Amino acid sequence: MAKKTVLVSGGAGYIGSHVTVELDAAGYDVVIADNFSNCDRTNYKGVCKITGKELPLIEMDFCDLQAVRKLFDSYKIDAVIHFAAFKAVGESVDDPLKYYVNNLESFLNILQVARDKGCNVLFSSSATVYGEPEKLPVSELSERKPSTSPYGNTKQMCEDFLRDCVKAYPTIKGIALRYFNPIGAHPSALIGELPRGVPNNLVPFITQTAIGKRECLSVFGNDYPTPDGTCLRDFIDIVDLAKAHVFAVTRMVEGKMEENYEIFNIGTGRPVSVMELITTFEKVNNLKLNYKIAPRRPGDVMSVWCDPTIGEKKLGWKAQRTLEETLASAWAWEKYLAGKK
Ligand code: WQD
Repeated sequence: MAKKTVLVSGGAGYIGSHVTVELDAAGYDVVIADNFSNCDRTNYKGVCKITGKELPLIEMDFCDLQAVRKLFDSYKIDAVIHFAAFKAVGESVDDPLKYYVNNLESFLNILQVARDKGCNVLFSSSATVYGEPEKLPVSELSERKPSTSPYGNTKQMCEDFLRDCVKAYPTIKGIALRYFNPIGAHPSALIGELPRGVPNNLVPFITQTAIGKRECLSVFGNDYPTPDGTCLRDFIDIVDLAKAHVFAVTRMVEGKMEENYEIFNIGTGRPVSVMELITTFEKVNNLKLNYKIAPRRPGDVMSVWCDPTIGEKKLGWKAQRTLEETLASAWAWEKYLAGKK
């Protein structure tokens, strides 16, 4: 059978680059498109080293509809995975228009071209759509909550765009993957998370503190009504997360979907607290982390983790890597970056 081609928008970023590696390993042709507004070429170069290929890379902005049309005219795209979006929760509160214009326009452009060309669409969604769930663990049937940030709102709106387009246009099929907390790096330590400026997320802040780039990690609150007082999350290994995309794309291109629009939670189903993550990081990497307890961060959800059974059953995917392996990979990546200077 002829090889299928997958377009990865935002493919030079953290999740996009790991997904590209797994798609290539699964025998897909991959086209990467990125405007490099939120990353440099470090991960792209790492992807080329891991795959041993100079994968096609188009520098473009998905807010430019003509550029999106030109891209789809240049390649026969069987599925597009859409990562190209801004993703800093706090920044989205300070600058909502930056998020609404960029995140919505880019996806609407992809949907218009996917409708005209006939293409499967895989949308990178987030557990943030569940807000602070009443009942845990959350399943795909759990209700979404009004978002506490414009970033989270764009995820809900894009899910609805995809749902409505699939209903109206027979040329589009769609899957939304709701990620919990992606962490870690590829075992080769050639690709990983590359936050610009001060990291918002926990694990890159931990590794930058451990390497000495940051003075001290602030633990945002240890007075929550949870077992150790810190928040609970479902930390999903980036390689496991990337593999889930291969299962989802294959489900679409092989016509195995049961509905034309499907949603899957991508998590481990294993709640881990912030403190547990810190102590596991120290133990597996044999180091002492400098951290202090700080006030709660406004907008933080106290506890969220998923019931991954629907995704496991229908996608045939299951998270494999242990938290220890993931945190060792995050540290190896930080050391690789330090050595690159
Ligand atoms: C996790 C926990 C913090 C930093 C967000 C988005 C989600 C996804 C990942 C975008 C919380 C605590 C954090 C720190 C800390 N997409 N923390 N000190 O907020 O669960 O999810 O990012 O990237 O859609 O909503 O992730 O890593 O910021 O926080 O104590 O310096 O770690 O309070 O409890 P979050 P996070």
